[in-house]
Amino acid sequence: MIKLTYLGQSCFHLNTQGFNLIFDPMISTNPLASKIDISALKADYIMLSHGHGDHVADAETLSLQNNAKIISNFEVVSWYEQKGISGHPMNLGGKYKFDFGTVKYVQAVHSSMLPDGSYGGASGGFVIWNEEKSFYFAGDTALTLDMKIIPMICPTLDFAILPIGDNFTMGYEDAVIAAEFIQCDKIIGCHYDTFGYIKIDHEAAIREFKNAGKELILLDIGQSIDI
Ligand code: NI
Ligand code: MN
Repeated sequence: MIKLTYLGQSCFHLNTQGFNLIFDPMISTNPLASKIDISALKADYIMLSHGHGDHVADAETLSLQNNAKIISNFEVVSWYEQKGISGHPMNLGGKYKFDFGTVKYVQAVHSSMLPDGSYGGASGGFVIWNEEKSFYFAGDTALTLDMKIIPMICPTLDFAILPIGDNFTMGYEDAVIAAEFIQCDKIIGCHYDTFGYIKIDHEAAIREFKNAGKELILLDIGQSIDI
């Protein structure tokens, strides 16, 4: 069982096999997440899909506070290493067995730039598996045929976290097709409602998935589920 907590935008805290992972932290700069107490968040690793501010805003704070390693692409990790923060660099198509499980850094179709304008490398997503579960955190991405490769090269997914807000990433209609490509029926939505451009109709999104025989879970910010 994985305990997963939604922290707004694309940020999730996840506990698996005793390890704490935080994905794409943007909390202090997200007015919708104002009730989240960053100082209470535990992390062994910070997973960053790419360098955009809405995914890395609190990575430095959380890493220093917890002595947590950053796992991301080579360019993002190198940028943090210059600040004295340790990380584990990866690049697209590569996998590595960490103490909490195996991570494969997979293709995303998106851009990437760090907050000071530095080159952020290629955007990616993570497929993570261990004895407990297998899941996919897509990061920011368009719908892409590359997603069809995931079931061919990774264990069967128990769930996936997909962006559904449109404008900057795929919207929920495309995310339904993405769920088919990755052969996964349990989807947790992210990257919606934070800005005006990505506000969505929750009921319509849930219905779109239901019509395709799939489940879309939209969590409240601060809400935890066991999955
Ligand atoms: Ni982005
Ligand atoms: Mn984003």
